[in-house]
Parts: sequence; C-alpha cells; structure tokens
Amino acid sequence: MNVVVGITGGIAAYKAVNVVRALVLAGHDVHVVATENALKFVGRPTLEAISRNIVHSDLYEGVAEVRHVAIGQAADLIIVAPATANTIAKIAGGFADDLLGNTILASTAPLVIAPAMHTEMWHNPATVHNIEVVRSRGVTVVGPASGQLTGTDAGLGRMSEPDDIVAAALGVLAPKDLAGKRILITAGGTREPLDPVRYIGNRSSGRQGIALALAAVARGAEVTLIAANLEVAVPESVAVVRVGSTLELAEATTEAAATADAIIMAAAVADYRPETIAQTKIKKESQGDVLDLRLVKNPDILRSLGEQRRDGQVIIGFAAETEPDADALLDLGRAKVLRKGSDYLVINRVGWTEGFVSESNTVVVLNLAGDTVVEASGTKLSVADRILDLLA
Ligand code: CTP
Repeated sequence: MNVVVGITGGIAAYKAVNVVRALVLAGHDVHVVATENALKFVGRPTLEAISRNIVHSDLYEGVAEVRHVAIGQAADLIIVAPATANTIAKIAGGFADDLLGNTILASTAPLVIAPAMHTEMWHNPATVHNIEVVRSRGVTVVGPASGQLTGTDAGLGRMSEPDDIVAAALGVLAPKDLAGKRILITAGGTREPLDPVRYIGNRSSGRQGIALALAAVARGAEVTLIAANLEVAVPESVAVVRVGSTLELAEATTEAAATADAIIMAAAVADYRPETIAQTKIKKESQGDVLDLRLVKNPDILRSLGEQRRDGQVIIGFAAETEPDADALLDLGRAKVLRKGSDYLVINRVGWTEGFVSESNTVVVLNLAGDTVVEASGTKLSVADRILDLLA
C-alpha cells in the first residue's frame, strides 16, 4: 500500500520516525511529506533512511511532475503524525500553503491524524471546533494520550504511541469481516509466586497477543484481552483484563469464554506452580546450599476450554516449541493439537533469540486433522491477520 506520512512541526516529530518504521516493516511503500518546521525537529537523512524513499517538503520542487498533487493522488492512506494545532486548523480550513496541505487536498484516501500539543491548546475552543470539523468529514483522530508533555508539565495532549497510530490507521482500511464477533485473546506469560518478591516465569512479552487483539479490533471484533505480565503497553483501543498467575488466568479466561465466539490462547502458561507460597521472603540462612522447590501441576486451560466449548465456538491454541527440525516440529504440533482438542494450533518456534522477544514471527498453523492451513512470516501484526483469516 502507498502510505503518505505527513510530519509537522512539533517535538513529537521524533516519534514519527517510528510510525514510518512500523509501516515499512509491515511491507508498505512509505512517502514522507514533512513541513519545513518538522525538519527542524528531525533530520531528512533519518527519515529517508527509515522510509527508504526521498522526503518531500518543498512545494516548489518537482513542479514539472506536478508533485503538489501527484503525491496525494497516489496515496492509499495519509497519516499526519504529529498533527499540531496549527496543522489541524489548516486541514479544517482547507489551506494549501505548503506541500502537505496540497497533498491532503488532492487526495481522496482516508486521512488519519495524531494530534500533539499542550493541554491548553487541545482544550482551546478553536482546536475543539477544528477537531469537530475534521471528524465530521470522516478524518480519523487518534489520541491524543495523557502523560508527560515537552516541559515539566503533564496532561492530555501527548501524541499517541507510534504502534497505536499505525494500528488505528491500518484499521481504517481493514475489512470489517469480524464485525459483531466476540473474541477472547490471552497474551503474555504467567508468573507463579514463590514469596512476596520472587516468581517463576517465562520470557513471553505479549507482543503477538497484542497484535492479534489490535488486528481483531481493526476488523470489527469486540475483543477482550486477558493479559499476563506484558512487557509492552496495550493500545487504548483494546479492553484489557490483567492477571498474574496461571490460576488467575484460568479464572478470568473461563468467565470470558462463556460469551466468546472465538478464543485465541496466545499466552505462555506455566505448567507448574510452587506447592506453597511463602508469606515472607525466603531467606538463604534457613535454606543452606541447596533450595528444593516442590511444584504442582497447573490446570490445562486450553484443554478444559475445549471440553466446555459453546456451540460454534472456535478455539485456537499456540504451541511454543524449541525443536529445530521442521518435520519434527510439525509432529510435535500434530500430537499437541490432538491432546488439546483445539480447532487450530499455531506453532511458534521459540528460543534464546526467536519468538518471544522479537518484533517479527514465523508460524505454521495446523488444523485438528494435523494439516497445515497457514504458513506466515513477518511482523506480528501481519502474522495476526493471517491467523484471524481463519476466523473470518
Ligand atoms: N496452555 C494452557 N494451560 C496450561 C499450559 C498451556 O492453556 N497449563 C495453553 C497455552 O496457552 C497454549 C497451549 O496451551 O495455547 C500450548 O502451550 P505449550 O506451553 O506450548 O504446551 P504445553 O501444554 O505446556 O505442553 P508442553 O509443555 O509439553 O510443550
């Protein structure tokens, strides 16, 4: 897809680099149109290296190619991040005094803006009116979020996080083929407490589960994300229930499963938990040179969800495996899908450097009969969409 990213003159322009990067990694052809002021905050070489294209800023360059309208005409999607109060006023008024203004006016593509400004400017009646005007014309407004602003102050006006902007923007164009469907997604890794300060855990970051939730929301689904100890923030568009241990995850999941049309168990679940949890910190003086931990088995949530499934409910499990041989990996998956009784199993190779920590993923999905139904590789968001195609 041809995506134009308009960058305007606010300090959040430095974060717009990550908007460009995420779009490029997702396989899009990204063209940056920066205002002169934006280039005071972030350098042209940075934007050209990350976007892999020339950065446009001057209205009077490329006149022979009629560039002031050509960029907008070719765009499938335009994102303005950050959108300053001034730029929003110009969009509302239909101004075309710079290349970005011309590009927006010459385009019929969806327009997504990510406002960034101080709280007072966001609440100013002029900005409030301009936002109403652009919204009424179909512009998607992402954020702003609340938090630390440029100075010492904090409040509403911070640009939304780059991943949230990209997810919302791509969501505008996503097919609404999961509209009205309730999807329960688990993400992250459970932690089993040993005492008030320590736990047994795993290295799952929750990124793939969050990507599934974002992609499902974009496709119109009503999503509940049950999140265990995520390493990354969850975008505002996703409803989250936070849990810690496997027993907490089991309880929250069983409750939400009762009304779900589909369940995706992307969480990495601890198979065992300490038999007893010490109420005070375990001291080495009382243990000596060896500490014995006695662990008891946790319930298998996926398996019991399969046993209690509602009519028509689709269940997708994940399998985290370290097996290096591709055929042996599939054999492990075939045995696991039968054992779990889920409709599909997403086989995910994990290791010291693969799977968990990475921003990309490679998966094979098996059905209950053990046939490969999807092979996907790429960003976790693109992998998520391939998995959701099974539900659509
Ligand atoms: N799972 C679960 N409850 C557990 C363990 C795992 O619901 N107690 C789910 C996971 O969320 C995942 C799937 O089962 O969707 C497979 O998890 P995985 O860790 O790969 O498999 P295990 O069942 O733990 O089997 P093994 O340890 O033998 O690989």
